[in-house]
Amino acid sequence: MSQQRVLVVDDEANTRRVLEIMLQKMGLATRVASNGQEALALAQRESFDLILTDLRMPGMDGLALLDALRAQKIETPVILLTAYGTVESAVHAMKSGAYDYILRPFDVEAVERTITRALTTERTRRENLFLREEIEKGWGEFVGRSAAMQQVYDLIHQVAPSNTNVLITGETGTGKELAARAIHRASPRKKALFVPINCAAIPDDILESELFGHTRGSFTGASHDRVGKFEMAHGGTIFLDEITEMPLPMQAKLLRVLQEREIERLGSNRRVPVDIRVVVATNRNPQQAVHDGTLREDLFYRINVFTVEMPPVRARIEDIPLLVQHFLAHHGTKLGYEHLHISEQALQSLQRYAWPGNVRELENVLERAAVLSRGQLIDTMHLPQELVAPVAPVASPARPSVAERSALPESLSLTQAIEQLERAFIVRALTQTDGNKAKAARVLDLSERTLWYKVKKYGIA
Ligand SMILES: Nc1ncnc2c1ncn2[C@@H]1O[C@H](COP(=O)(O)OP(=O)(O)OP(=O)(O)O)[C@@H](O)[C@H]1O
Ligand SMILES: [Mg+2]
Repeated sequence: MSQQRVLVVDDEANTRRVLEIMLQKMGLATRVASNGQEALALAQRESFDLILTDLRMPGMDGLALLDALRAQKIETPVILLTAYGTVESAVHAMKSGAYDYILRPFDVEAVERTITRALTTERTRRENLFLREEIEKGWGEFVGRSAAMQQVYDLIHQVAPSNTNVLITGETGTGKELAARAIHRASPRKKALFVPINCAAIPDDILESELFGHTRGSFTGASHDRVGKFEMAHGGTIFLDEITEMPLPMQAKLLRVLQEREIERLGSNRRVPVDIRVVVATNRNPQQAVHDGTLREDLFYRINVFTVEMPPVRARIEDIPLLVQHFLAHHGTKLGYEHLHISEQALQSLQRYAWPGNVRELENVLERAAVLSRGQLIDTMHLPQELVAPVAPVASPARPSVAERSALPESLSLTQAIEQLERAFIVRALTQTDGNKAKAARVLDLSERTLWYKVKKYGIA
């Protein structure tokens, strides 16, 4: 990621110098201005991620600068530097849109923390602006622009206009039902009904009458005529979800419907023509299901004319920021939090996780985080424990959140912390390989010589 840029504004050369050095140590690029006008001119010409300005300056003071920036639609966060005596005007400044204020004399730690937090928020704000535009380029209800999803959209487009049966496969929560609805909506049948049936949720003895309907008195309890789902879907699309959960005798009856395009209600021998498009889904491997005997082979061949495979989330992690933005906007609005943001650290954790429950699991995690955050910046502490990889704060670039900083041991230097981690990795690899250095070196992707050296360096027995 590119270096972030900070503008320092102060009429005292000394303070400017001190802040400049501090910011450079934090890995930030800096520019300085000695008064409000100069700062305003710079901010119009160049783009900054943060502006640190003295509150009291001759001419245009910090507050006037803030107003002037906002009047010009420059939304860069502004932090005010202020002496103890002027806290009141600092508070006033916060109300007029300053990000925060820092009291003089500076506490270096506190200054660094405030700056880090402001920069993280700013980065997220910019990403969100970008993402909002991107989402509008999504496709129907689908969010995702990865190559894997583009391929899904293409397949849906290709198959939708025809009457071809479609088999949708994919792990749980990957959007199979969404895809089935998309096929229906993009088809000439869109004015008629989309009728979904979850074969796993309906008891076996009711499924047949659900699908085919029945006439009054055809079995005990059948007190009225009843239209089945096949008839309901006439002219439209029927979606049979979890097809491998359908009992085999029912699968045989379904096959007949697919071949003859006619049904009989239970208790009636009148044949009714049905004009339906059939889409089925399963989260199993269909060939394996045939092999295991949970899917009839003849039915499989009938429905396997055109297959759409939904990719798991971990195969399209580049879509995660978009999905996050989408669900935060959705749940934020429901909870009355207008602009929910997520920290970079938290986003990284989400991109590292394997998501066995796919989009549904991601949505649940974000809904929970939105509630826990109470409208504040969503951070790793709002995510379930198993999502937050223990090595994250060390392995990822600088700018940890405030929460993570305090979770790190204060007394260690960076070098010491890295060495501790390195030692722990080496010990683990050696334990896993029963002390075999050649194998451990391969696990760690080190040369044997390097491993040998490090074992000696850390005094590992
Ligand atoms: N690409 C996507 N963009 C936005 N939302 C999605 C996407 N994929 C899935 N979802 C949402 O995730 C949830 C699960 O999707 P859906 O019910 O279609 O999955 P499924 O594959 O049918 O899952 P299961 O196998 O458990 O039935 C739904 O709320 C759906 O709206
Ligand atoms: Mg489903």
